[in-house]
Amino acid sequence: MKKILITGGAGFIGSHVVRLFVQKYPDYHIINLDKLTYAGNLENLKDVENAKNYSFVKGDIQDKDFLKNLFEKETITDVIHLAAESHVDRSISGPMEFIVTNIVGTANLLEVARSSWTNDGHIFYHISTDEVYGSLGDEGYFVEDTAYDPRSPYSASKASSDHLVRAYHHTYNLPVKISNCSNNYGSHQFPEKLIPLMINNIKHNKPLPVYGTGKNVRDWLWVEDHARAIDVIFHKGRIGETYNIGGWNEWTNIDLVKEMCRIMDEKLGREPGTSEKLITFVKDRAGHDMRYAIDATKIKNELGWVPSLEFEEGLDKTIDWYLENEDWINDVTSGDYQKYYKEHYS
Ligand code: NAD
Ligand code: DAU
Repeated sequence: MKKILITGGAGFIGSHVVRLFVQKYPDYHIINLDKLTYAGNLENLKDVENAKNYSFVKGDIQDKDFLKNLFEKETITDVIHLAAESHVDRSISGPMEFIVTNIVGTANLLEVARSSWTNDGHIFYHISTDEVYGSLGDEGYFVEDTAYDPRSPYSASKASSDHLVRAYHHTYNLPVKISNCSNNYGSHQFPEKLIPLMINNIKHNKPLPVYGTGKNVRDWLWVEDHARAIDVIFHKGRIGETYNIGGWNEWTNIDLVKEMCRIMDEKLGREPGTSEKLITFVKDRAGHDMRYAIDATKIKNELGWVPSLEFEEGLDKTIDWYLENEDWINDVTSGDYQKYYKEHYS
């Protein structure tokens, strides 16, 4: 039987991946290992917490002895590794936690997998980001062999972990797979990220802080389509390969925020144009990457994956989820979030 360790399963993307695997593969046992940092929330997994093929372990990937014991006790057969510090702005104000979790934590997992897996048939699947490729101008796309050029402490820590994963494949023959995905959006995303932050602020008539000129471009993908891609790569992707995942869906930040204002004015019964007045241009992010855009042809041609949802529908569903899940958003924005918000945006 497969016993898959999913790290970071209580976070935004991790919870969607855990849900998909628990529900779709009753013959697998899914172990969710998560430290439950500010970004991890077991409320995200209420609907699967009692499933027979699911268990949760609280733990820190920075702790190698703990990982070693877990691998021995549970006979882990595969790893899908999502645990990370994930927010670029936090990596600028405090890079060390990113270095320790994203680099050393990944190295710990690789070491423990390498020493525990003495036979064939395992998979170490590392989930990464398009930010490792750096920043694009107006033209062009990131492909799998675009040279790495990370520019924030977050992306440098992810690039470093990608390199380690590849090194363990080449040096020790560890059976690895890597995917690099563009910006995700959807339910259960912590409201430090652009889309849920703007939804929450529009709802509460708070200023909408757009960094710099608002002309930076991101390629948005519905989180459940990312989870579907992870499923396909885990099962059908080739060992030692990298797959880029993206939405073919580029938006400037300012256009996206205006679109959210338009949809929410309609949903909240406000006069058209009301929420746009909340847009406030604020100091730019240090080293702000201009444009990300993924060429996802490889995963499309080789594995038949394409996004399932149009952005308009995904954004609409996402906004509805936040409006309908007031308790979730109130819960995660109480306490520490207020302090973070004040320090970051004042
Ligand atoms: P998130 O911040 O929402 O969740 C991260 C999870 O990891 C949390 O549950 C947290 O508790 C856990 N975690 C953090 N440090 C840990 C540690 N030391 N030990 C164990 N668990 C720990 O992040 P996300 O947006 O869901 O991203 C998940 C992964 O996907 C990350 O590796 C990220 O780099 C990658 N990624 C994210 C995006 C995106 O748009 N959000 C896009 C591409 C790739
Ligand atoms: O591209 C994949 C990456 O996408 C992931 O690897 C990261 O984990 C994830 O956080 C995300 O990084 P970004 O920095 O692109 O996402 P964020 O939501 O923080 O910002 C999106 C854009 O919006 C970016 O250009 C900065 C801008 N922004 C963000 C915030 C929070 C604003 O203008 N105002 C804001 O308040």
